[in-house]
Amino acid sequence: MCGIVGYVGDGICKQFILDGLARLEYRGYDSAGIVCIDPKHNHFVFQKEAGGVSLVKKLGETARFDGHIGMGHTRWATHGIVDQKNAHPHFNCDNTVAVVHNGVIENYEALRKELLEKNHHFYSATDTEVIAHIASDLYDSTGSLDGMCTALVKKLHGAYALVLMLEKEPTNLVALRHRSPLVLAQHDSSVYVASDLSAFSDKASSACFMPDDSFAILSKNSVKLFDFEGKPLIPMFEPIDKKYIEIDKGGFEHYMLKEIYEQKRAITRTIYFCRLIGSKNGQYTDSLVDSFKHSEVNDEYSDQIWRHLGLSKDQVKRLKNVVLLAAGTSWHAARIAQFFFEMVAKIPCQVSLASEFRYMPFFPKDDTAYIFISQSGETADTLEALRLVNSFELPTVAITNVASSTMVREAGGFLPMQAGPEISVASTKAFSTQMATLYWLAHRIALERNTISWNDMHEAEEDLFVAAEILETVIENYKIKIINELAPKYAQYERFIFLGRHINYPFALEASLKLKEISYIFSQCYPAGELKHGPIALIDDKTPVVLFSILDDVLYWKIIANAQEVKARKGHLIIFAFEGQHELIDLADTLFIIPRVKPLLAPMAMTGLMQFFVYHITRVLDRPIDRPRNLAKSVTVE
Ligand code: AGP
Ligand code: GLU
Repeated sequence: MCGIVGYVGDGICKQFILDGLARLEYRGYDSAGIVCIDPKHNHFVFQKEAGGVSLVKKLGETARFDGHIGMGHTRWATHGIVDQKNAHPHFNCDNTVAVVHNGVIENYEALRKELLEKNHHFYSATDTEVIAHIASDLYDSTGSLDGMCTALVKKLHGAYALVLMLEKEPTNLVALRHRSPLVLAQHDSSVYVASDLSAFSDKASSACFMPDDSFAILSKNSVKLFDFEGKPLIPMFEPIDKKYIEIDKGGFEHYMLKEIYEQKRAITRTIYFCRLIGSKNGQYTDSLVDSFKHSEVNDEYSDQIWRHLGLSKDQVKRLKNVVLLAAGTSWHAARIAQFFFEMVAKIPCQVSLASEFRYMPFFPKDDTAYIFISQSGETADTLEALRLVNSFELPTVAITNVASSTMVREAGGFLPMQAGPEISVASTKAFSTQMATLYWLAHRIALERNTISWNDMHEAEEDLFVAAEILETVIENYKIKIINELAPKYAQYERFIFLGRHINYPFALEASLKLKEISYIFSQCYPAGELKHGPIALIDDKTPVVLFSILDDVLYWKIIANAQEVKARKGHLIIFAFEGQHELIDLADTLFIIPRVKPLLAPMAMTGLMQFFVYHITRVLDRPIDRPRNLAKSVTVE
């Protein structure tokens, strides 16, 4: 999840690279660096900076050079501490080969040992640096860039997107990818390469997503693409989705706050989109989605949707299992969606952490749909799980927020959420649109199997629109109280416990993650029914307990019992309750009351308020909310 940007052409490259890195900074921002070839002497000139927000801005101030060919990198460290020495680019012994890298070289220690025995010396503690030394030796032994590449990829194990520059080849960039993404573009005489489209989406009209296991030799006016055996490939350029044009905060202090407020529209657009691709002609465009009025809902749901998902109507009717795979917040959404598939579609649903799934015994199941949920569509853990399932030729569906992502290209079918670009590292609108998409899909599958009626389907969409409305409205109900009183109060605590039951347990997990990942306050989440089995020992007046209620008549009384257990130990209760739940409301030290929604939409109704509360606690602590320390927006290493 670092950011790579490269340029070669008639123009000057530094500002292009810095602008691109700034747009990719969300992918990783421990450190950054840039290297160009000085046009006067054909030597490398480079600058690296470590740590802190506005890293790329600092790099722009200290890098006092330019050129017509160069590359830059923002790092999320995997091997080697975060400091200037370990920042990219890395070089070979005589600084004549430079490399920037996204990913992990899993066999770097053996390679490093081999190189040390050949009297190479190393400057950094990273895995990446071995690449520059090996590439240098291979170029010298093969005498060509393509010879170097075909030999290099045979030596590297792991995941990598690389860009290399050699002083001996001052007019060429070399880009290689295995697992980690790289995208190319051309504009006039200029050729660009980057980890992600957003680096140059306003500077080119089309882009080529490098196929996995390919390398490219780029020069002014020229893109030559090859497979790892050195066989030439035709680069396929496709139009760039203009929604990736410059995204700004729209007047909000942080992207996170902007994206919290974008949720109602994101959910609404997502449902309209699902309706459109599920309609007769299955056509959809951004403007169609924007202009789609709910009143125009046509009266039938065609099976066009299944073609989009890469499933046949018959497969949907025969489904015996749904397996959901994801990471982080997307896994929380998947855990919530498990209730949708089991309680609406009446289909057994298993949810796995992608990072665990790959290393557990896998029993391929017939009549099973494997659904991969990922905002970025680039998460290495989830991608590798997808590749494992694909290897068994089983039905795979990607639900992502980036239609041009690797996951979409590698899955059998896809359903892109319509959250719009999510820039803040902490996921907000992606989480709520994932829930909306999965809620809609569970109902659509149930409709196909005659488990529910057309009216139930239409009502489910109405319920989603209502829940989206409540998500936004309830923030306004508590906005002033949170900003003026509650956030300053709770920002002083050093640890929190989060509790939830049934569908609100994974929601409580998400709330706990949100708090810890942006405020750095320690928090732990438990199923509320588990508190008495040990964690209750943690209850004291220094550890606020955030309890999320539920819309289930039986479990509601259990939640009250859990709240009383906390009160009996002088615990401090922050309660998210629903209207009319007086018994629970009376137990709260701090109370948020949410209008009632359909029970399975309880998490969605609470989402905005929870995120707004955590955002303002963090704002009091003056954290870099959109770029929390140690994190990255898209974790493209395992
Ligand atoms: C959530 O706020 C985090 N940014 C992180 O947990 C994220 O959800 C996770 O890395 C998965 O990312 P994805 O949805 O892009 O696959
Ligand atoms: N593994 C390399 C390092 O730790 C690259 C990490 C990244 O993708 O940013 O420097």
